[in-house]
Amino acid sequence: MPFKHTTTASILLILLSTSFVSALNITVYQANVAFAPLPLPYSHADSDGDDIIALFQNLGRNTVWKSIANISFEGDTFEPEGIVRLGPDRYIVSAGQWTEPTVPYNATINGTDRSTGAGFSHLIVFDGEGSRIADATITRRGDIEYHNGGIDFDGKYLWGTIAQYRPNSTAYVYKARPETLEPEPILHYNDHLGGVVHDVQTDRITALNWGSRNASTWDLDDINDEYRASSTSEYTEPPEKIVRNPSHFIDYQDCKFLGHSKHYQNRPVMLCGGIAAIGSGDDAFYLGGIALVDVTTMLPLGEVPIALRSALGIPLTVNPIEASVENGKLRLYLLPDQNHSTLYIMEAQ
Ligand SMILES: *[C@@H]1O[C@H](CO)[C@@H](O)[C@H](O)[C@H]1NC(C)=O
Ligand SMILES: *[C@@H]1O[C@H](CO)[C@@H](O)[C@H](O)[C@H]1NC(C)=O
Ligand SMILES: *[C@@H]1O[C@H](CO)[C@@H](O)[C@H](O)[C@H]1NC(C)=O
Ligand SMILES: *[C@@H]1O[C@H](CO)[C@@H](O)[C@H](O)[C@H]1NC(C)=O
Ligand SMILES: *[C@@H]1O[C@H](CO)[C@@H](O)[C@H](O)[C@H]1NC(C)=O
Ligand SMILES: *[C@@H]1O[C@H](CO)[C@@H](O)[C@H](O)[C@H]1NC(C)=O
Ligand SMILES: *[C@@H]1O[C@H](CO)[C@@H](O)[C@H](O)[C@H]1NC(C)=O
Repeated sequence: MPFKHTTTASILLILLSTSFVSALNITVYQANVAFAPLPLPYSHADSDGDDIIALFQNLGRNTVWKSIANISFEGDTFEPEGIVRLGPDRYIVSAGQWTEPTVPYNATINGTDRSTGAGFSHLIVFDGEGSRIADATITRRGDIEYHNGGIDFDGKYLWGTIAQYRPNSTAYVYKARPETLEPEPILHYNDHLGGVVHDVQTDRITALNWGSRNASTWDLDDINDEYRASSTSEYTEPPEKIVRNPSHFIDYQDCKFLGHSKHYQNRPVMLCGGIAAIGSGDDAFYLGGIALVDVTTMLPLGEVPIALRSALGIPLTVNPIEASVENGKLRLYLLPDQNHSTLYIMEAQ
């Protein structure tokens, strides 16, 4: 994909809310091109969620994944963490730009094991051919919470998390309309968070901590304006519950809420992708895979390893994952590489 910046307009919007000072700093690369299609597509829960779940039942270790397209995403993609597909002509990618690395303490200090480092969270919009439409920086310089995690789309809002880039730290959950990319902080929590999903039917959000070892769930009715009026140093209501993730097959990075599934007695189900480093030293290898997970119990309902790698050797499921059903077949959308990324569209045969 050649770089074709037809119009480069730089718009800087600093939006000060009464509570969190949310920063939105957007570079628009294609003037007069909407960030999101109108009307917005349905969420997976309201459209193809049960079809994705049905097709997942046919997958196994020997599934042949056919390469449908490799789409080169224009510009710097930093470290892609999550992806939402808004129909065939829009992708929104959550990404982390690291400007100063975290340094290991080689000890536990204040409950964590490394320095804060520094960086920025991004939401980047691409069209179906990989041309960049806009790049929004949604954190401010100096924020210690700058790690944007996986993202989900509920039919109206994108949901994401911005955390410190270290375990056992702090994070906040935000939502943003895809038309504006303006992050609205929803709650602040004293653990690292990523891989958030929103169950519209119960109005609960569930997010995963470092390594997806825990899932914390909040009822959004409990998160009121009083919290939003509080300062950034204060934390929100504790979660309604914290569930230990019993699966150690992979660490989930990016999840998509698929709805309350007929296949699983109406349980709320999400699709997650991720990897795990297995072993250490010379024997270490990376296992990639996908899973269907019961959002309320974190019990895996189906798990399939995927050994595919990008042309640069990165496991395809390392971070962003999306899914769709085309002509009765399951497609995955994977964006593994850092900085200059290719979207791998793979179809289960
Ligand atoms: C921890 O160990 C690593 C590797 O030996 C080193 O690079 C790093 O500087 C050490 N961190 C501290 C805070 O000493
Ligand atoms: C640990 O916490 C204390 C108290 O908040 C603080 O003074 C100190 O700088 C922290 N240490 C590190 C390494 O961040
Ligand atoms: C984070 O906290 C958990 C639970 O207390 C603990 O098992 C783990 O070792 C901690 N991780 C680090 C890196 O300190
Ligand atoms: C906008 O974000 C970029 C990082 O993408 C940063 O370098 C720049 O300083 C930001 N501008 C402001 C005013 O915060
Ligand atoms: C997960 O949550 C449980 C319950 O709050 C807690 O005991 C445990 O330390 C947490 N584990 C990690 C790795 O954060
Ligand atoms: C995508 O790239 C891979 C190499 O990583 C290649 O094997 C595959 O054929 C390509 N697919 C298409 C549709 O060009
Ligand atoms: C991506 O770019 C950053 C900043 O230039 C660099 O530190 C990092 O090593 C790059 N990552 C890869 C996988 O090339």
